[in-house]
Amino acid sequence: MGASFVAHVLFLLWFFATTFSFFLKAESNVSCNEKDKQALLNFKQGLSNPKMLSSWSDQEDCSRWDGVVYDNKTGRVTELHLSYSGFGGEITGSLLPLEHLNYLDLSRNDFNRTPIPTFLGSMASLTHLDLSYSNFSGHIPHQLGNLSNLRYLDLGGNYYLYADNFHWMSNLSSIQYLDFSYSKHQSEVGWLQIMSTFPSLSKLIAYECELVNLNPSLGFVNFTSLQYLDLTDNLFSHEIPNWFSNLTTSLVYLDLSRNSLRGEIPPSIFNSLKLESLDLNSNKLIGKIPESVGQLKHLTDLVLANNSFSGPIPSSIGNLSSLVGLYLSYNQLEGAIPKTLGLLSNLSDLEVSNNFLTGTVDEEHFTKLSNLDDLDISHTHLFFNVKSNWVPPFQLTYIAMSSCKIGPNFPTWLQTQKSVKFLDLSKSEIADKAPGWFWNWTSGIVTIDLSDNQIEGDVSDIVLNSLIINLRSNHFKGQMPQLSTNVKELHIANNSFSGPISSFMCQKVNIENQLEVLDVSNNLLTGALPHCWEYWQSLTHLDLGSNDISGRIPYSMGSLVALQSLHLQNNRISGNIPSSLKKCSDLSLIDIGENPLSGAIPPWIGEMTSLTILRLSSNGFKGPIPLQICQLSSLIVLDLANNSLSGHIPNCLQNISAMTIPTPRFGVEYSYKMGGGGTSGTYHENLKLVPKGMELEYEENLAFVKIIDLSSNKLSGSIPSEILVLSELCFLNLSRNQLIGKIPEKIGIMKKLESIDLSQNHLSSEIPLSLSSLTFLSHLNLSYNNLSGKIPFGPQLQTFDAFSYIGNPQLCGNPLPRNCTIGEESQNRTPIGKTEEDSYNSNFYIGMGVGFAVGFWAVCGVLFFNKTWRHAYFKFFDDMKDWVYVTTVLNVNWLLEKLRSCHL
Ligand SMILES: *[C@@H]1O[C@H](CO)[C@@H](O)[C@H](O)[C@H]1NC(C)=O
Ligand SMILES: *[C@@H]1O[C@H](CO)[C@@H](O)[C@H](O)[C@H]1NC(C)=O
Ligand SMILES: *[C@@H]1O[C@H](CO)[C@@H](O)[C@H](O)[C@H]1NC(C)=O
Ligand SMILES: *[C@@H]1O[C@H](CO)[C@@H](O)[C@H](O)[C@H]1NC(C)=O
Ligand SMILES: *[C@@H]1O[C@H](CO)[C@@H](O)[C@H](O)[C@H]1NC(C)=O
Ligand SMILES: *[C@@H]1O[C@H](CO)[C@@H](O)[C@H](O)[C@H]1NC(C)=O
Ligand SMILES: *[C@@H]1O[C@H](CO)[C@@H](O)[C@H](O)[C@H]1NC(C)=O
Ligand SMILES: *[C@@H]1O[C@H](CO)[C@@H](O)[C@H](O)[C@H]1NC(C)=O
Repeated sequence: MGASFVAHVLFLLWFFATTFSFFLKAESNVSCNEKDKQALLNFKQGLSNPKMLSSWSDQEDCSRWDGVVYDNKTGRVTELHLSYSGFGGEITGSLLPLEHLNYLDLSRNDFNRTPIPTFLGSMASLTHLDLSYSNFSGHIPHQLGNLSNLRYLDLGGNYYLYADNFHWMSNLSSIQYLDFSYSKHQSEVGWLQIMSTFPSLSKLIAYECELVNLNPSLGFVNFTSLQYLDLTDNLFSHEIPNWFSNLTTSLVYLDLSRNSLRGEIPPSIFNSLKLESLDLNSNKLIGKIPESVGQLKHLTDLVLANNSFSGPIPSSIGNLSSLVGLYLSYNQLEGAIPKTLGLLSNLSDLEVSNNFLTGTVDEEHFTKLSNLDDLDISHTHLFFNVKSNWVPPFQLTYIAMSSCKIGPNFPTWLQTQKSVKFLDLSKSEIADKAPGWFWNWTSGIVTIDLSDNQIEGDVSDIVLNSLIINLRSNHFKGQMPQLSTNVKELHIANNSFSGPISSFMCQKVNIENQLEVLDVSNNLLTGALPHCWEYWQSLTHLDLGSNDISGRIPYSMGSLVALQSLHLQNNRISGNIPSSLKKCSDLSLIDIGENPLSGAIPPWIGEMTSLTILRLSSNGFKGPIPLQICQLSSLIVLDLANNSLSGHIPNCLQNISAMTIPTPRFGVEYSYKMGGGGTSGTYHENLKLVPKGMELEYEENLAFVKIIDLSSNKLSGSIPSEILVLSELCFLNLSRNQLIGKIPEKIGIMKKLESIDLSQNHLSSEIPLSLSSLTFLSHLNLSYNNLSGKIPFGPQLQTFDAFSYIGNPQLCGNPLPRNCTIGEESQNRTPIGKTEEDSYNSNFYIGMGVGFAVGFWAVCGVLFFNKTWRHAYFKFFDDMKDWVYVTTVLNVNWLLEKLRSCHL
C-alpha cells in the first residue's frame, strides 16, 4: 500500500514537471530561421533517399526536426547530427546559407563514392566536421583548409579518398582532432611537419594511410599537445625516429603497430611518463626490452608481440603497477619470467607465447594477479609447476598452455576456475588420468584442446558440451563420448576408442546434433557403418579412417548433403559405392582407399564436380575407368591404384583442367561458414602435404602436388596422348598394367613432372628423346617393358641408375652396362639375372601411394597469433555479433614413396 502511494506521488510530480517544462519551452522558443529551414529542405531534396528525413517537413518548425540543433535565441541552425541516416546522393551547396552551423556530422552514410563537396570549405563557422565512413572518394578538397575554426575533422573510413599533400591543411590552426584513416597518402612526404604546426592537435589518427615515412625533414617535430597518435598499418620500414622524445610530456597513447619498423626501440620513448598505451605489435623490431620500461607508471597496455625482441623480460615490468595487458608473444625472448610479474595486481592479459622462455612458472608468479583473465604461455619451454592443492588468486577465461610442460600430473588447480571459455593444454606432457570432476567442469568451455598428451580415461558415459573438442592423440579408451547439441567439432583421432560405431551415431540424443566436423580416425571402432546418417546433416567433414569398420556404405549416407570431405580409408568396408552419394554434391575430398570395396567406379562420379581429391586405391574395383571422370575438372589427386580396373586409360584426361593450370599461390583452401547462419564464423581448411622419410620434397601444399596414379590395375591399350595436356602434373604412375605402344613422344612438354613410373607394362619402341628435358624429374622407372634402342642422353636422365631401365632387353647405353655398338648386342649382353639380383636388395623401386589422414584442428594457431581475433572469438560468445575466424588445418599425410620389391 505504501508503495502504491509513493508511486502516485511520483507520477503527479512527473506530470507537473513535464507540463511545466513544456509551457516553459513553448513560451521561450524562437521558431527556426526561415532561411535555414529552406536551406535544409533544399538539402533534403538533393538526397537520393530523402525518406530517411521524414521528420523534416515543411509544416513542422525545424527545431523539431530529427538531427537538427538550433539556437533558441536566434533561431539559427547550429548543429546537424545526421550520422547513420541511411541517405546518399550528392550534397550540393544547399547547406551554405546555414551561416551559424558549427557542427556537421554526415558520417556513416553512403555518398556513392562522390567527391567531398568543395563548398564545405566556405562554411567558416564549422568547428566540427565528421565525414567518416560515408563512401566519399577522390581528392580531399583543399578548400577544407579554409576552415580555420575547425577543431574536429574526421575523414576516416573513406577508402577511396586520397591527397597528394597536406599543405592545404596548414591553416587549420585550431584543429584538435584529426582522423584521415584509410585514405591514401603514399605520395605525401611532409605530413609530419604540417601536423606538428597545429598547436592544439591532441589526437591524430592515420590508420592504414599508406604513409611511408615517419622521419621529419627538420629532424624533430614540434607537437606541443599531442596525446594520442595512432599510425597503425602504414608502410614505415625504417627505425623508430628519435623525435618521439619530444613528445614525452604529452603522449598518452602511441600505436605504431603493423608497420615494418626496424631497429631497437629508442630508449627515450620510455621517458614518456604519461604513456598509458604503447603498441608496437607486428613490426620488425629487435634488441632487448630495456629495464627503463619500468618507469611508465601509468602504462596499462604494453603490446610488443610479433617482433624479434630478444633477451629477458625485464624484471622492472613488476613496477608497472597500472598494467592491464602485457602482450609479448611471438618474439625471441629468453630466460625466465620474472617473479616481479606477480605484483601486477591489475594485470588481466598475460601473453608471452612463442618465445624461447625457459625455467619454471610457479605460484609466486601469480601472487597478486587476482584480475588475471587471459594467460597464454604456450609454445615456450616453460615448466608450469604448481602444487596440486594450489588455489590461484584469479579466475581465468582464457588458458593457453600448449607446448609447455605441465605434466605428468593432471593440473588439478583448474578445478578452481569457474569461468573458463578456452582451454588449450595440448602437447603439455600430461600422462595421467583425467580426474572425475574434469568433464563436468568442461561443460561451460567453448573450446577445449587436450591433444597430443597421454591422457587416459574412459569417457563413454560423459556428455561433452563444448563447441570444439580436440582430444586427438591421447590414450582415451572405451566407447565414444556422447555429445550435446552444442558440439560442432569433435576430434578424437589416434586414441583407443572402441565399440561399434553405430552406438555413437545412432543414439537418440544425437538427433538434434549440429556436429560439423567428426574425426575419429585411427581408433579401434568396429561394426558396420550405421544407417542413421539423417541425424548428421550438418556434417561437413567426416573421418572414420583407419578403424575396423565393416559393412557396406549405407544408402543413407547420401543424406549428408553438406559433406565436403569423406574419409573411410583403411577399414573393412565392402560392397559398391551407393548411388546416393552423388547427392553429396559439395564433396571435394573422397578417400575410401584400402577397403574391400568392389563393383565398378560409378559413371555418376562425373557429376561431383567439386571433387579435388579422389582416392579409391587398394580396393577391388573392376571394369573400366568411366570417361565421366574427365568431367572432374577440379581434380588434383586421382588415385585409382591397386584395383582390378581394365580397359583403356580415358583419352579425355585433358579436361581435368586443374591439372593444366597453375595452382593459386596459396593452394587449395577449403572453407565453410560455421553454423551456416552467420552466428559463428568462417572455418578455413588447409590440405597440407606432409612427405615422409626420404621423399621428394613437396612439403608446402598439397595443391601444388598433382598426381595421377593408376598403377597396379589391368589397364590395356596405349598411353593416350591427351595426357600431355596435363602440363601441371607432378606425379604420373601407370606402372604394373598391361599398357602397350610407345611412351608419348612429346612427354617432355609435361614440364612439372617430378616422377614417372611406367614400369612393368609392355611398352615398346624407344625412350622419347624429350624425356631428357624434364628438369624437375627426380624419379624415373621404366623397368620391365619392351623398350629398345639407346637411352637418350640428357643431364637429367643420366642421374638415374640402371634400375630405372632394367628388364628391357633391347635397351642399351649408359647407365645400363650394355653398350649400344651395332652388331655386338648378343656379345655384350649383360646377364640380366645378375642385375635383377642386385636390385632385389635395392630400395630403388618405389611406387607411389597416397594416403590422407589426420583431420586436424588448429584453432589455436590463429587465435594465438592475433589478440584482436582472439578477443573477437570470445566476444562472440558474449554478444553473438562478432564473427569468428577459425582456421582448421586438415593435415594430409602423403605416403609418397611406398617401397615395392622389384621382382614381383
Ligand atoms: C535554450 O538553449 C539553451 C542552451 O542550449 C538551454 O540551456 C535552454 O534551456 C534553452 N531554452 C529553452 C526554453 O529550451
Ligand atoms: C524548444 O526547443 C527545444 C530544443 O531547443 C525543443 O526540444 C523543444 O521541443 C522546443 N519547444 C517547442 C514548443 O517548440
Ligand atoms: C560506395 O559507392 C559505390 C558506388 O556507388 C558502391 O558500389 C559501393 O557499394 C558503396 N560502398 C559502400 C560500402 O556503401
Ligand atoms: C579557400 O581555399 C581555396 C583553395 O585553397 C581558395 O582558392 C579560396 O580563396 C579560399 N577562400 C575561400 C573564402 O573560399
Ligand atoms: C614549437 O611550438 C611552440 C608553440 O606552437 C612555439 O612556441 C615554439 O617556438 C615551437 N618551437 C620550434 C622549435 O619550432
Ligand atoms: C626534441 O628533442 C631533441 C632530442 O631529444 C632535442 O634536441 C630538441 O631540442 C627537441 N626539440 C624540441 C622542439 O623540443
Ligand atoms: C555436473 O554439473 C552440474 C551443474 O553444472 C551439476 O548439476 C551436476 O550434478 C554435476 N554432475 C556431476 C556428476 O558432478
Ligand atoms: C662399352 O664401350 C666402352 C667404350 O665405348 C668400353 O670402354 C666398355 O668396355 C664397353 N663395355 C662393354 C660391357 O663392352
